[in-house]
Amino acid sequence: MTTQTFLAERVSGLVAPSSFGAVLGRVADDAIHLTGGSPAIEPLPRAELARLTEAVLADPETAARALDYTGHQGDAGLRAWAGAREGADAARVVITNGALHGLSLTLLAVVDPGDLVLVENPVYPLAVKTLQLTGARVDAVPVDAEGLDVDALADLLRAGARPRALYVVPDFQNPTGSVLAADRRTRLVELAELYGFVVVSDNPYSALRGDGAPVADLDLDSDRVVRVNTFSKTLGPGLRLGWTVAPEWLVPGLLDLRSRQDQHASSLLQEVVGRLVTSDGLFDRTVAAASVLYRERALALVGGLRAELGDAVDVDVPEGGVFAWPRFTDPAVDVDALAAAAAEEGVVFLPGSQFSVVGDAAASRRHARVSFGQATVGQLGEAATRIGRAYARVTA
Ligand SMILES: Cc1ncc(COP(=O)(O)O)c(C=O)c1O
Repeated sequence: MTTQTFLAERVSGLVAPSSFGAVLGRVADDAIHLTGGSPAIEPLPRAELARLTEAVLADPETAARALDYTGHQGDAGLRAWAGAREGADAARVVITNGALHGLSLTLLAVVDPGDLVLVENPVYPLAVKTLQLTGARVDAVPVDAEGLDVDALADLLRAGARPRALYVVPDFQNPTGSVLAADRRTRLVELAELYGFVVVSDNPYSALRGDGAPVADLDLDSDRVVRVNTFSKTLGPGLRLGWTVAPEWLVPGLLDLRSRQDQHASSLLQEVVGRLVTSDGLFDRTVAAASVLYRERALALVGGLRAELGDAVDVDVPEGGVFAWPRFTDPAVDVDALAAAAAEEGVVFLPGSQFSVVGDAAASRRHARVSFGQATVGQLGEAATRIGRAYARVTA
């Protein structure tokens, strides 16, 4: 029997922007998986979430609120918390179902089909996927050890590029782990104002700093700056809860879209998480404990890779986030083949090639994205040994 499909072109015309997430090779049964951007379970405040959910539902008044519809913009308490954290009026905060949702709403609200949108190279591929629904043309700006190359952006603009929006991950960029330098942040906002594009700062790892001094996010005094954030990396991606801070002119557009989509984020979760983040230092303690854990894991992974591979690998300990971005120094090494061999040896990571979705593939080809969020120190040491074995195999 054939099944007739009735997919709209909006869906049937979609093409995946890359092979992101595809695991090459045959994966050993006991493999250690270092592919995802999920947080570790250990520091997540499970008991507090359970206690607060119970408390909200046990009280008939709060239960009635938590199980009812609420406004499109989201819970006032949660917006006040996010606004205070970001240094913006709560009226500019929209509670979303996570970062990708905030990104999607923002891009749909500002980008027309055919408009140019700039992204990073290498880039978080799901951001490019989200962007596809706008019908934008997409081009890339390179990323180096100090984040987005703002000189390269200025060159593009001087040469006539007129983007409507630019997507950037300022802290512990996915996949490179780089932090956008403070002077580049200032210059980026100046360029956005001069050339009239919207900078969308997607900063989910920003709170997870294990070393070094924080750098202020993009300046919200500019009406060209949107900050997208999420609880996914701090309280768990399964919550699907985040926030976006938009300039005043953009908020009604985001809410117009929202009123034609899901209406609002879960009232129950907003109530529970709103209580959690306002309970006396709990959120900050959670984030601090997670940052210490990720620091130990980053050191274990990077130390293990350096010990196993020596000069064959060039890898920094990222100051935060959950990804390392080692570069294999021998240009003859095919990192896709290495990833496949590593899967067979029992460790799965993503080759860098999956992250140059737009722009020059050379930016990523010799790298790998190795996540240390969910593996223990012991597993990371073993993973490095297995990567060493795979490396010996592909270079034999
Ligand atoms: C840069 C970046 N943005 C957004 C997300 C997704 O966030 P959320 O789960 O809140 O949609 C991720 C998750 O890996 C990410 O790395």
